[in-house]
Amino acid sequence: METNFKLKIIDKTQIPETEPKRQYYFIEIAKEYIKQLSAIKGSPMTFHVSTFGCQMNARDSEKLVGILEQIGYEEVDTEEADFVIYNTCTVRENANNKVYGRLGYLNGFQKKNPLMMIGLCGCMMQEPTVVEKIKQSYRFVNLIFGTHNIYKFAELITTAIENSFSDLAKKKGSSMTIDIWEDTDKIVEDLPIERKYFFKSGVNIMFGCNNFCSYCIVPYVRGRERSREPKDIIREIEKLVADGVVEVMLLGQNVNSYGKNLDNPISFAALLQEIEKIDGLERIRFMTSHPKDLSDELIEVMKNSKKICKHLHLPLQSGSSRILKIMNRHYDKERYLELVEKIRTAVPDIALTTDIIVGFPGETEEDFEETMDVVRKVGYDSAFTFIYSKRTGTPAASMENQIPEDVVKVRFDRLLKEVQKTATKKAEALTGNIEKVLVESVNEQDEHLVTGRLSNNSVVHLTGTADLIGKIIDVKLTECKGFYYIGEEVK
Ligand code: SAH
Ligand code: SF4
Ligand code: F3S
Repeated sequence: METNFKLKIIDKTQIPETEPKRQYYFIEIAKEYIKQLSAIKGSPMTFHVSTFGCQMNARDSEKLVGILEQIGYEEVDTEEADFVIYNTCTVRENANNKVYGRLGYLNGFQKKNPLMMIGLCGCMMQEPTVVEKIKQSYRFVNLIFGTHNIYKFAELITTAIENSFSDLAKKKGSSMTIDIWEDTDKIVEDLPIERKYFFKSGVNIMFGCNNFCSYCIVPYVRGRERSREPKDIIREIEKLVADGVVEVMLLGQNVNSYGKNLDNPISFAALLQEIEKIDGLERIRFMTSHPKDLSDELIEVMKNSKKICKHLHLPLQSGSSRILKIMNRHYDKERYLELVEKIRTAVPDIALTTDIIVGFPGETEEDFEETMDVVRKVGYDSAFTFIYSKRTGTPAASMENQIPEDVVKVRFDRLLKEVQKTATKKAEALTGNIEKVLVESVNEQDEHLVTGRLSNNSVVHLTGTADLIGKIIDVKLTECKGFYYIGEEVK
């Protein structure tokens, strides 16, 4: 490959101002550039997107992949690609550090491949100190953008390609393209999205968060809450179903406050009822459900629904009412336990999962015992347990009484043991039953074994082949092996 190439810049006239038209225009320009670069390379240009963090980021990455494939890049399963993008998370410090660690290693690949671009996006990029650090110490990065302007990715790549390759000799040092917005109220519909699985898909119903839990950075990096119009959500799901999707996961930081800021407000429960009517859609999941806004209307809809899965993720964060208040969660231990009671009465076989933070500033032994008490009382099917991580800019970061690491570690280990004890008991509850299973994948070691999920999200392994993927079948759960079942298809 010649290393002394120069990209031929395409003249741009009459760039549409309205979205998504503008992005389709840039998709065509970017396509031309990828053609030029492929010709220089002598083979198709490749990309790899590495995703950190939550389902929001996973869905955003599918949007990136959709555009990258449209413009002619081919996806590969290695970071030795022509375009590597890290979609970052900053919810805890360790998520953050991982990215810096891996950037050096990417730079090694870039030194060997003059056509390689490195892109960074996601929540970490919404922090000005992070972007400053990258500008200073990681000058080889080609493109940085944030969570609010991901819809204009086609336009951003076009600029990044022009900045990186129009004059390769000048490349070293000044080719970084940066576009970060502080917030937005814009929602752009109808852009290309690629799906990771043909049979299930995440669907954003809202963006951002208004809750400002005192430990959490998400509202600062994802902006204010905004809901999509119900008709746009329904249209997207109908299209997905026509395309083979049988299960959707509705996504929002607090789905229970969906619709409140729309011109014609509608509740999350009402939206679920509309989605339930879509023919061909078999399963509906959602996350995350904030306990403070979980309504009786929603519990009623869950009780009567044929499609809503029997799983509720209900983050507890702490079992101590005192700590919950300082966390700004707007519920207390009693209200949380009452909710659990109500849900279990309405949907007796529902699986309950949660998130818990250990070592929030000022957490005493007594506070921690309250958390242990809730864990014992609720008996979660599983729980994500986190050590409190100080996030600069959040109220909790400047609170006194940050808990020493060794104390937190002891509490964390105790909590984990308690969680595992109840989860193991829960896990075997359905042994012997015949249940519906959505088959999701073939076992990597054995092509005659497939893996699927029950409505309550438990994993089942059974004999079967790839043709079952995406189908919902009846399975007898013959044995429970700790955290998964072994089953047999019942025909
Ligand atoms: N919107 C969701 C949570 C999104 S963040 C909700 O309200 O439940 C996912 C989880 O990360 C949170 O539930 C919380 O348990 C954890 N988390 C958030 N900030 C954290 C921090 N500073 N330290 C440790 N864990 C944190
Ligand atoms: Fe963070 Fe709280 Fe918003 Fe969840 S609800 S994203 S924990 S601020
Ligand atoms: Fe992380 Fe952003 Fe999700 S900070 S947890 S990827 S919303």
